[in-house]
Amino acid sequence: MDKFLIRGGRQLKGKVSISGAKNSALPCMAAALLTPETVILHNVPYVRDLITQRRLLEDLGATVLTPELRTHKINAANVNVFEAPYHLVKTMRASVLVLGPLLARFGKAKVSLPGGCAIGLRPIDLHLKAFEAMGASIEIEAGNVVAEAPKGRLKGAEIYFEKVTVTGTENVMMAATLAEGKTVLLNAAREPEVSDLAELLNKMGARIKGAGTEKIEIEGVEGLSGAEHTIIPDRIETGTYIVAAAITGGEVEITNCQPKHLEAVISKLKETGVQIEELNPSTLFVKCDVENLRSKDVITEPYPCFPTDMQAQFMALMTQANGISKITETIFENRFIHAAELNRLGAKIEINGKTAIVYGKTKLSGAPVIASDLRASASLVIAALCASGETLIDRVYHIDRGYENVVNKLRSLGADIERITTSSVNFVEEAKIT
Ligand code: UD1
Repeated sequence: MDKFLIRGGRQLKGKVSISGAKNSALPCMAAALLTPETVILHNVPYVRDLITQRRLLEDLGATVLTPELRTHKINAANVNVFEAPYHLVKTMRASVLVLGPLLARFGKAKVSLPGGCAIGLRPIDLHLKAFEAMGASIEIEAGNVVAEAPKGRLKGAEIYFEKVTVTGTENVMMAATLAEGKTVLLNAAREPEVSDLAELLNKMGARIKGAGTEKIEIEGVEGLSGAEHTIIPDRIETGTYIVAAAITGGEVEITNCQPKHLEAVISKLKETGVQIEELNPSTLFVKCDVENLRSKDVITEPYPCFPTDMQAQFMALMTQANGISKITETIFENRFIHAAELNRLGAKIEINGKTAIVYGKTKLSGAPVIASDLRASASLVIAALCASGETLIDRVYHIDRGYENVVNKLRSLGADIERITTSSVNFVEEAKIT
């Protein structure tokens, strides 16, 4: 398993370009299953999860061409398998995003039921309830969800999500595009990735209104066509580089991002004393006097509030703030695993149920640590960048799932980071910074 060796204490300086959003590219790739025509996606990040998604589409019978590293041309005319098997779903839960499109276009789908994962139980009951409301029969057989639409076509319905679910909203929105009649989604997720997907679907001929609000209305159509679409920048990658720049007392220009997608993060970081300036609508400049960083409390909530996917990185930053900060996680029940690893580096963090108390400021010093999930890995990298001495982060396959070219990007900013590779082929290093 690959590891990162980081020698901390260097200020990050320079420019870094943000990649496409993993969490938008994943559903957009699944959306290509809704049409026999070709869907062309640009700005698809070169990360492990997208490679897994590509494999899944190919296993279903789609062809995926990659004329350029970050462009995918997907054609699902010859899909003849309707199943997402366990070996793919267990490595990437977002594989369940093929359920809605397969069910809508072919009237049937079988998807392995994802188990829990490091950060929580993460059921998909709300996806399934919605498909049932649209007339599908749902059975759980041998660990699989087996779904069928009556007479091959789903029916529009009014669906109220008891909890805000991002992939749930996306799955059902995709399915509703080809359903008979109108579907109304209430308490829908408002994340920018949902809006990006809706934009692609509308380019394909879908009739979706209200994406980005809590009420989405979808008028079903008979068929969808091909389309070309550019994936939005990754707001979580952007936030991660802001925090990395801040914790090292650096000065970094972040390009190709979309600041308006991370207003809650930017405003919280500004409260702590991080200086963030919007140079233009796609460029941020970050500067920080880390000695005077102030502790602030944060609560994670669905968009447009502070995202759970930035919680771990914020926690790393708060280890360097003056004072005590209270971080409350409301989305996932077990998303504080990184706290114990940060404590190994010298942080003082106590967990009390849904709340973490971070006592700042602590002097961090390098140690061997283990990454437990994607964003936890990012928090360890961030902490290691400001720790004295060497930090060895194990299981960085988690970070490879969602951060493109992280070693080269950080190195270009002056960080002392290297990947210690145990496998002979390393897909991440092949990607070039553009
Ligand atoms: C997506 C993101 C992930 C992010 C999360 C929350 C993708 C590929 N992943 O995950 O990075 O951390 O949103 O912003 O976009 N829930 C249920 N039943 C369901 C569905 C969800 O109880 O059927 C619960 C979950 O356990 C969780 C909460 O609802 O407690 C939110 O989950 P959800 O928004 O669905 O997360 P994902 O879509 O899996």
